[in-house]
Amino acid sequence: MKIGILTGGGDCPGLNAVIRAVVRKGTFHYGDEFVGFLEGWRGVLEDMTMKVDLTSVGGILPRGGTILRTSRTNPGKHPDGLKRCIENLSKHDVEALIAIGGDDTQRIATKLHEQGVKVVGVPKTIDNDLSGTDFCFGFDTAVNVATTAIDRVHTTAEAHNRVMVVEVMGRDSGWIAVYSGIAGGADVILIPERPFDIDEVSEIIRRRHQRGRYFSVVVVAEGAKLATDVNPQHGAPVVTDMARDEFGHVRLGGIGNVLAHEIEKRTGFETRTVVLGHIQRGGTPSAFDRVLATRYGIGAIDLVHAGDFGTMVALRGTEIVAVPLSEAILATRMVSDDLINVALGLRDKTDKPQ
Ligand code: F6P
Repeated sequence: MKIGILTGGGDCPGLNAVIRAVVRKGTFHYGDEFVGFLEGWRGVLEDMTMKVDLTSVGGILPRGGTILRTSRTNPGKHPDGLKRCIENLSKHDVEALIAIGGDDTQRIATKLHEQGVKVVGVPKTIDNDLSGTDFCFGFDTAVNVATTAIDRVHTTAEAHNRVMVVEVMGRDSGWIAVYSGIAGGADVILIPERPFDIDEVSEIIRRRHQRGRYFSVVVVAEGAKLATDVNPQHGAPVVTDMARDEFGHVRLGGIGNVLAHEIEKRTGFETRTVVLGHIQRGGTPSAFDRVLATRYGIGAIDLVHAGDFGTMVALRGTEIVAVPLSEAILATRMVSDDLINVALGLRDKTDKPQ
């Protein structure tokens, strides 16, 4: 069978591990041939391809990024975009397409499937907020990077009597913030799911210092917002650039600095910010992500040969399953109350919850 493969959206540790697993199982077990579309949907739209075979996937398991490169191209924003994609797929005799990406990538995959393209999706985002699956590959690596950073920042906070604010990624959900915050023993964790009030955050820190601690660590997701009940102007995330990409996303970032400034002003405690940014997304995948990505790759090629199209591989509990693409793009998967309560359970119960 001739199979197309692409990686779309932000890069993510484990993309190469998925490609490798698809190509190895496809070649060894099914006698497949592969065409790689470069730079996500841009490659399908503009007919940019590379041959992908056993040689090209040799040695890529531990490598971050993606050998197919990636972009946030949205064919729906280009004249006759979806039609051109379908034409280019048939030009290369592609019988099935494996689309590795987050919700934006899977939305395009869904549209193409509705128009007859045989597609299987693979869930990818370090934000871990794709519906239909318990975990996306890349998330574990990002959490490990963030946790290491929090550990390092902790020692400086302690040595200098400071409040340290660590800004992590998480556009719509706070999975990285909650996991790394719990793992790193953060004193306050702020996420998009629970808009916060700076006075209350400052009060929590002041009370902690009154109890005898002389430093604090705050972890904030880039998409965390100020509560609107204090100021109706609040409720929107802090952005560094209002320009929107083809999927309508603005560039987030800056909440850490705003927070540090306001905390210092209110408490008088010296406060600093560390913004982790793309360091969380780059580099070699963790062992967990390599295994998960490999399981997804094997699952995806098996779905292709089972003829189970319009689906996405997913992790449910410990099992790899197929879920309809429509389920994957339904809504952002938010951090559960259970997990938020774990973080809150570690705090003084008289503190106001954030
Ligand atoms: O979608 C994952 C993500 O890492 C978000 O957390 C972040 O807001 C965004 O990508 C950054 O994207 P870019 O690399 O395009 O700036």
